[in-house]
Amino acid sequence: MLFNKNFKIINIFVILVAAITSIGGLLFGYDTGVISGAILFIREDFLLSTTAQEVTVSAVLIGAVIGASISGILADRYGRKIMIVLASIIFGIGAIFSSVSPNVNALIISRVVVGIAIGMASFIVPLYIAEVAPINIRGALVSLNQLAITLGIVISYMVDLYFAPNGSWRWMLGLAVIPSLILALGMFFMPPSPRWLISKGFESKAVAVLKKIRGIDNVDKEVNEIEQTLLLENEGKWSDLLEPKIRSALIIGIGLAAFQQLTGINTVIYYAPTILEFAGLQTATVTIFATVGIGVVNVLLTVVSILLIDRLGRRPLLLAGITGMIVSLGIMGLAFIIPGLTSSLGWLAVICLMLYVGSFAISLGPIFWLMIAEIYPLRIRGRAMSIVTMINWATNLVVAITFLTIIELLGASGTFWLYGVIAVLSLLFVYYRVPETKGKSLEEIERLCIGRD
Ligand code: GLC
Repeated sequence: MLFNKNFKIINIFVILVAAITSIGGLLFGYDTGVISGAILFIREDFLLSTTAQEVTVSAVLIGAVIGASISGILADRYGRKIMIVLASIIFGIGAIFSSVSPNVNALIISRVVVGIAIGMASFIVPLYIAEVAPINIRGALVSLNQLAITLGIVISYMVDLYFAPNGSWRWMLGLAVIPSLILALGMFFMPPSPRWLISKGFESKAVAVLKKIRGIDNVDKEVNEIEQTLLLENEGKWSDLLEPKIRSALIIGIGLAAFQQLTGINTVIYYAPTILEFAGLQTATVTIFATVGIGVVNVLLTVVSILLIDRLGRRPLLLAGITGMIVSLGIMGLAFIIPGLTSSLGWLAVICLMLYVGSFAISLGPIFWLMIAEIYPLRIRGRAMSIVTMINWATNLVVAITFLTIIELLGASGTFWLYGVIAVLSLLFVYYRVPETKGKSLEEIERLCIGRD
């Protein structure tokens, strides 16, 4: 047991549950980040054309769109825990097949398989954690998943650096099998989601789980609240999503999903060395080290977000972080057109990118994944999150494959300003549409978002 500042009891077991499941986030970060370095050697081994390289890099994103779209209904039907176990097995198989691929087609298929696991884990992990977490630290626990994503990205950059001298891309891709195994084994010790159990009528099992994860004997209040809310819900069909009241929660999720990607974060995560080269940083070693630095800022500011999210709330962090993104994108765009800046442009770019990534890390990064786990009715939570997550991966894919072309068309300044304008739109969207969910139970949020009070 632990006590937080308000002397509320926090059961250490629930923190452990969140930490173990977040290995799904680590794999998400690792498997999306690792290809940036690996592709340099894959390209040589398989003599790839530019198009073949683009397909190899984006295969994971295509897989993620598929994984997100097929697994929502399964998570509602068969449960969250079993789907995370399934994702970990697919992660492992994908890693092994990627590392032994005899040709580029086999590699592309293996990467699509890895992507399917990423698409599944990306929303089922936050969904599961939100459903086991106590209200007062739910934001922090769900955001452990985003922290794990950012750690996975930095670890992948470092693994790439380590294996680069020998060009061992097979090791880079294959090492993901280790966290996959740990996740698969760890999940056997995790409880099923108590909310999902109640929605399926397994009340006594849910009570046992709640007693264990809350560390108290009387869990009647929580069970009652979940049951009462379920009584107000429809059966749980796809068509429920079109109900006017749920539609508004869906718009909030879709808006956050699209803005999280269209404000350009993954141009930095996938292409930082390229951007820094444009800005005049000279050697590959310097750009790669600067990239690792940017990845570390991403991790550190996610920690800051975790510390603040249940105290300040989601809205203040979103508004402050997006404002920081707008400012840094604005300066970044300016820097590329101010004459006479050439010698210091490279380092100014590094600072702007750090400010930009740091601002994302306290806001849109973790809070999108958190809020979509909070705002949907229990019976259709898996399905609603799966649609929103699919949009997140589809917009991610669009940004990734258009970035270099947009730079050619608009130049570096125009491109950063374009993302800046989208960030202004996202600020307005958050200001007018996104509710505060801090300190409320999932059942209270449901009533708030879909107006069932
Ligand atoms: C979020 C985004 C993901 C991005 C990551 C960067 O998890 O969903 O696309 O790569 O943040 O930290």
